Amino acid sequence: MYKIAVAGTGYVGLVAGVCFAEIGHQVTCVDIDEQKVDLMKSGVSPIFETGLEELMQTNYAAGRITYTTDFKAAYQEADAIFIGVGTPEQPDGSANLSYIATVARQIAESVENDCLVVVKSTVPVGTNDKVEQFIQDFLVKDVKVEVASNPEFLAQGSAVHNTLHAERIIIGTESKWSEELLTKIYAPFHLPIVSVNRRSAEMIKYASNDFLALKISYMNDIANLCELVGADIQDVAKGMSYDERIGSKFLNAGIGFGGSCFPKDTKALEYIAKQNGYELKTVKAAIDVNKEQKTMLYKKASKRLITLNGLKVAVLGLTFKPGTDDLREAASLENIPLLLEQGADIYAYDPVGAESFAKVHPEGKQGKGSITYVSHIEHALEEANVCFVFTEWGDVKAVTPETFKKLMRTPLVFDGRNMYRVEDMQEAGVEYHSIGRKPASRVSVKESNNYELQNY
Ligand code: UDX
Repeated sequence: MYKIAVAGTGYVGLVAGVCFAEIGHQVTCVDIDEQKVDLMKSGVSPIFETGLEELMQTNYAAGRITYTTDFKAAYQEADAIFIGVGTPEQPDGSANLSYIATVARQIAESVENDCLVVVKSTVPVGTNDKVEQFIQDFLVKDVKVEVASNPEFLAQGSAVHNTLHAERIIIGTESKWSEELLTKIYAPFHLPIVSVNRRSAEMIKYASNDFLALKISYMNDIANLCELVGADIQDVAKGMSYDERIGSKFLNAGIGFGGSCFPKDTKALEYIAKQNGYELKTVKAAIDVNKEQKTMLYKKASKRLITLNGLKVAVLGLTFKPGTDDLREAASLENIPLLLEQGADIYAYDPVGAESFAKVHPEGKQGKGSITYVSHIEHALEEANVCFVFTEWGDVKAVTPETFKKLMRTPLVFDGRNMYRVEDMQEAGVEYHSIGRKPASRVSVKESNNYELQNY
């Protein structure tokens, strides 16, 4: 078993640290935020992630994991230091590497033993060559420090499961010593290891994420065409999925991809290509389609409703996907300002994301409209004139067509996640618009009494 330090306790760093402890390594997680460190010591996870808190608590109690702001103590005797700090997107699409540089400098000034620095953060191809050189340049003690690339493929909400049961571990190294050490660290996971050089490992991360983003944008593009030609995207996806070369995952059309990875990594790879004098047309297309798709529901609603001014608008789901409280690049963040601009009175429900959303859009009057956060779906739907579904939470999915019909003033639903069967909505008399499928029913203008609908 090895002494492992982890720099950064975000999704990547904390989950990696906890899982390394779980398989028996001795782990110290480092963060600059003292409050966060205290919180983690008390067994509370700073992020919402299924199963994480339990593992934090059991491994802390067993003495296999600890948390500190004292990076020197954590790094000086570590066999391996994993870097999991953020590489946020800059305005030009490139990745901001300043957090990595700070950690690299701290490592150079702290290590007292030979050690392997393992970069888990997503970084542009070639960055880890520079990180290694940078550490060598600032190294205080005469010890061996090498850098390996070990990209992370965890999805939020299932990060612990994804780490413990990863489909593959990618290790990118430039020496036998690094390769063997990293292989031994991962051995207790009993997972397939793909060992390549450092630059290929860095590229595998971008190429994988951008391929998935492309898959989603492709399905969204096809979904929009399905609407025009009278095909059903879910049936189309089902038919495609039987082809093993295509696969059955990531074929769900909707209101585009959000989150901390796909939007950032598509732009970053496009930027890397540009820097190298190459235009990455496929990735650019994925970005362009996604931008359009994010406001697809709003565009549909604007065609159907003459105005949203003064209407009660139910919003179900705010996070970029279910199982997380993360709002980064969520479709709700693009659509809600548009609804408020129109003067909508929004009643928003999200089982975990409402608090963070309220920091961006505080409850109360906002411009011409207003926003109220409710803790029950029914309170959002009661007497609502229209409902938007942005996230496929389980309890949102469980709302029956009859409930929409019974509770809403006008049963008019715009669903960005294709959660309900068109036929069921039709049968219940709910006017239902989704993505890549035919609409269901039509609410009559008479029924809608205090506002107008237009033909669409
Ligand atoms: C993703 C990758 O899955 C993971 O491997 C990588 O390490 C980080 O980025 P994450 O962002 O957590 O993980 O979520 P994911 O489940 O992949 O969904 C990303 C976005 O794509 C969400 O907004 C989701 O709603 C959307 N999506 C996903 C679709 O619109 N359709 C699909 O079929 C799948």
